[in-house]
Amino acid sequence: MYLSRLTVADFRSYRWADLELTPGSTVLLGANGVGKTNLVEAIGYLGSHQSHRVSQDAQLVRFGQDRARIAGRVHRGPRSVALELEILPGRSNRVAINRGAPVRAREGLGILRTVVFAPEDLGLVTQDPGGRRRFLDQLMVQLRPALGEAAADYERVLRQRNALLKSARRAHRWGAEEETTLEVWDEHLCTAGARLLHGRLHVLRLLAHPLREDYAALTNGSKTASYAYDSTVPLARGTHTEAPPVEELAADMRTALRAQREEERARALTLVGPHRDELTLFLGPAPARGYASHGETWSLALALRLAAYDVLAADDPDPHGRPVLILDDVFAELDSARRARLAGLVGRAEQVIVTGAAVEDIPDALTGHRVLIRQDAEGSEAVTAAAAPVEGDIREPRHGGEADA
Ligand SMILES: Nc1ncnc2c1ncn2[C@@H]1O[C@H](COP(=O)(O)OP(=O)(O)OP(=O)(O)O)[C@@H](O)[C@H]1O
Ligand SMILES: [Mg+2]
Repeated sequence: MYLSRLTVADFRSYRWADLELTPGSTVLLGANGVGKTNLVEAIGYLGSHQSHRVSQDAQLVRFGQDRARIAGRVHRGPRSVALELEILPGRSNRVAINRGAPVRAREGLGILRTVVFAPEDLGLVTQDPGGRRRFLDQLMVQLRPALGEAAADYERVLRQRNALLKSARRAHRWGAEEETTLEVWDEHLCTAGARLLHGRLHVLRLLAHPLREDYAALTNGSKTASYAYDSTVPLARGTHTEAPPVEELAADMRTALRAQREEERARALTLVGPHRDELTLFLGPAPARGYASHGETWSLALALRLAAYDVLAADDPDPHGRPVLILDDVFAELDSARRARLAGLVGRAEQVIVTGAAVEDIPDALTGHRVLIRQDAEGSEAVTAAAAPVEGDIREPRHGGEADA
């Protein structure tokens, strides 16, 4: 798939920007801080309703404004969809499809599929397991949007269960009432947790092969990328085989929770479940975290995103269903051999959008279509402006000096 038009209003540093995009590769070029990442963040957000940089929507809205808008035309083979999104921090997003009446936000998910690689992804390799769990869950939800609900249910029940453990510890009280309430939370926790764990194990099984292949293709192939998933729920079978049925996982989780009951009450924390599971990445025999070189860390983080790309592409047999691939600020960090290898690998996408500060850093094969980004006192501006107004309600053109705020 590809995006032919992107319009943003009051998004980050942009008062207004309107870009025409084409299939193939596009480079967003400009000095540090001019607004390159802001644009690719908008594209990612339009597809997933999530930013790759922040978890709070407030930062996405231009300073002093109360809402941001993003619109785009998404093409999938001969069909195209006009997608519009309004970000209202603290409230749910408003989404419109093909200029229709607003629909529930989640109906807008999945129309535009993107895979974003950004420098923040180094944290997938170097930091604690939270980021790796989020990576797995994100991919899981992109594959099976219904699991987004299981993940949200799980988070909610977990908070409530921890609150119960804490208040009981504070009150030095654990009676029949607390026991009954905990049993109720446990039931919900195991139901949602088992679905989540099942989804993760499924995604992990799909990732193993592309991760190994993509890491080998990016590097000289001297080390093999692999992973181990250590679950707090004892798993009868390994993670490279088909995931056990959800009911089996729920029963295993219940047993593990019972075994930890005393410890959980003492620490007032839920110690069993997918929120405590660890994904360890390996290069050869050594864990990547704490051992990998800087360049290896970049390559491994990139290979994780490319592997996620492959999993999504394999999930959709339509070649026009492949996600838009976004590579933010990656080329400057790679040596020339890795740059060339990466340029060869991105051909799998119908549309690739890359950002960089210097055109020399970007392989020639990717520099066909360039968009120059600059910033003045009023905010960021993308220089290839489109001739006609975009469809939808984002209409007002950008006027040089006068701010409408
Ligand atoms: N909500 C916001 N309102 C206004 N400006 C914002 C907002 N959020 C970020 N900015 C501004 O956007 C600019 C950063 O843009 P961006 O991250 O896209 O830069 P970049 O071109 O990717 O730079 P680099 O090459 O350093 O990665 C900063 O000047 C920042 O102050
Ligand atoms: Mg940037």
